[in-house]
Amino acid sequence: MNAPVMQGLNLNTPSYVKNPKLIAWVADMAALTKPAAIYWCDGSEEEYQRLCQQLVDGGTFKKLNPAKRPNSFLACSDPSDVARVEDRTYICSEQKENAGPTNNWMAPADMRKLLQTGKDGEKALFDGCMKGRTMYVVPFSMGPLGSHIAHIGIELSDSAYVAVNQKIMTRMGKAVYDVLGVDGAFVPCVHTVGAPLEAGQADVKWPCNKTKYIVHYPETREIWSYGSGYGGNALLGKKCFALRIASNMGRDEGWLAEHMLILGVTNPQGKKYHVAAAFPSACGKTNFSMLVPPEAGFAGWKVTTIGDDIAWVKPHADGKMYAINPEAGYFGVAPGTNMHTNPNCMRSLDKNVIFTNVALTDDGDVWWEGMEKDGGGLPDHLIDWQGKDWTPAIAKETGAKAAHPNSRFTVAATNNPALDPEWDNPNGVAIDAFIFGGRRSTTVPLVTEARTWMEGVYMAATMGSETTAAAVGQMGVVRRDPFAMLPFCGYNMSDYFQHWLDMEHKLEESGHTLPKIYCVNWFRKGDDGKFVWPGYGDNMRVLKWMIDRLEGTATGSENGFGVSPAYAEINWTGLDFSQAQFDSVTSLDKGAWKQEFALHDELFTQLAYHLPKALVETKTQLEQRLTA
Ligand code: OXD
Ligand code: MN
Repeated sequence: MNAPVMQGLNLNTPSYVKNPKLIAWVADMAALTKPAAIYWCDGSEEEYQRLCQQLVDGGTFKKLNPAKRPNSFLACSDPSDVARVEDRTYICSEQKENAGPTNNWMAPADMRKLLQTGKDGEKALFDGCMKGRTMYVVPFSMGPLGSHIAHIGIELSDSAYVAVNQKIMTRMGKAVYDVLGVDGAFVPCVHTVGAPLEAGQADVKWPCNKTKYIVHYPETREIWSYGSGYGGNALLGKKCFALRIASNMGRDEGWLAEHMLILGVTNPQGKKYHVAAAFPSACGKTNFSMLVPPEAGFAGWKVTTIGDDIAWVKPHADGKMYAINPEAGYFGVAPGTNMHTNPNCMRSLDKNVIFTNVALTDDGDVWWEGMEKDGGGLPDHLIDWQGKDWTPAIAKETGAKAAHPNSRFTVAATNNPALDPEWDNPNGVAIDAFIFGGRRSTTVPLVTEARTWMEGVYMAATMGSETTAAAVGQMGVVRRDPFAMLPFCGYNMSDYFQHWLDMEHKLEESGHTLPKIYCVNWFRKGDDGKFVWPGYGDNMRVLKWMIDRLEGTATGSENGFGVSPAYAEINWTGLDFSQAQFDSVTSLDKGAWKQEFALHDELFTQLAYHLPKALVETKTQLEQRLTA
């Protein structure tokens, strides 16, 4: 044992940890945050069970009925800590322009004073923030261990909830130190719930702080998170590392870190394609990544999941772009998930799951809105996510939701019956197409293929979407969400567009084939306010048309926006969907597009600094075509 003593606290460094930089950093962070103890996670099953039991004993977890949901737990958070806090999320680059107008910014020196060193006689937020708590040292690999596309992070957290969730969401444990070695690089991630315990003070079941800071230093590749225990703010491998920090790495090193699912689609002849698709939070990425093709008309077709939320995509010497899923689990939205919308997900949730903010049934199982459609109807009684009684009558009278709209499940990818055999391949899978989709009740057609990389980047850059419960704020308003990366791009958005545009020339010069780019919208509504497109498994019909385009067997027809399918090119077997319905989800309305382009103008004005000229030129061309 290598056991330096910091201010009376034993670091307890295990002998297999051999990286002096890491050990010195843990010592520094312990000196700053002053935990009562330090625990180095080894990622073992025994450790997972022990920490879960500790969370049960402390009241954070409720063990679910093992006969109904073996080895599964429910955590209900503080009602103020239920989603990502975008207005408390900072990109602290040296220059403000490098964070860009879509990110909150503070000068790194000022932020460090606030968090680490203190200023004007005021104590720094991290000074003593872990008092009375254990600091968990959580080693994780984003991506298959040792993959040339993967990267290592170490999260220091005073939350056992974080440690057990990280065990599911990442490749977490001892083996990471073998890859790290003596001088390997890691992204340091410090997380605290910001609720130090004084001697003798009893803990609460979900400690957090009303002050929250989710901070990224892109140049030094560091993450500091204060005050929240909620997934996207606290599981720092996910949005903070795999998107905000990794997007900076990708820009500097010539690859892409994207808010994209990755799926494999195999045709009846056994030929397999891979697509990566970006949708804003809570717009059905997990559902699409686990899609079950309709029985009628799609015999022999298979969709398999590589990832449901994030893709790291790197060009390879063989001329293709290869993607890995940096995560190892799914932190998905529960409400709306049922046997119709996502049967593979429901099967994934049978056992070994951590649920957060769903409702508890009287027989010790979980429930959320949408499950009533699985045949059982509404339960007579539940305990809702805030610990209150819930009955259908109460719900009718007060509108109370049993599960929080952003309630989640954390589950290992290996629980997914549709897991792609290549999901853990360190070399990734070769991407044939990128898909971008927002939630739009009007204007944007069901599916369009971009004629050029440039037009594809334009479509993605100007994507709009109606907001959801995944982030704190008003729901259902259209906001521009370029590449579904608005809350996740760790640098100036216009530079990010340029990075995508540069990819074309770099890849072509080095003999690469560029994936095709598609824009989709599953969410068009009719005059009755209802969705017209059935979505879910029927999205296979659109996916198949894309494959037909890749194979060169569908001609499509050109509209001002790109290439879209003719009605007859979609396989309609088993679905009663008329030409008129098809027209209503594919039509391009000149008036609506005029307004849409005015909103693109607003976006471009906001992003004027470093906005690629080519995007403005493309806008002029598209506008002429679509509104002439
Ligand atoms: C997520 C999100 O949790 O996008 O994946 O908010
Ligand atoms: Mn996401």
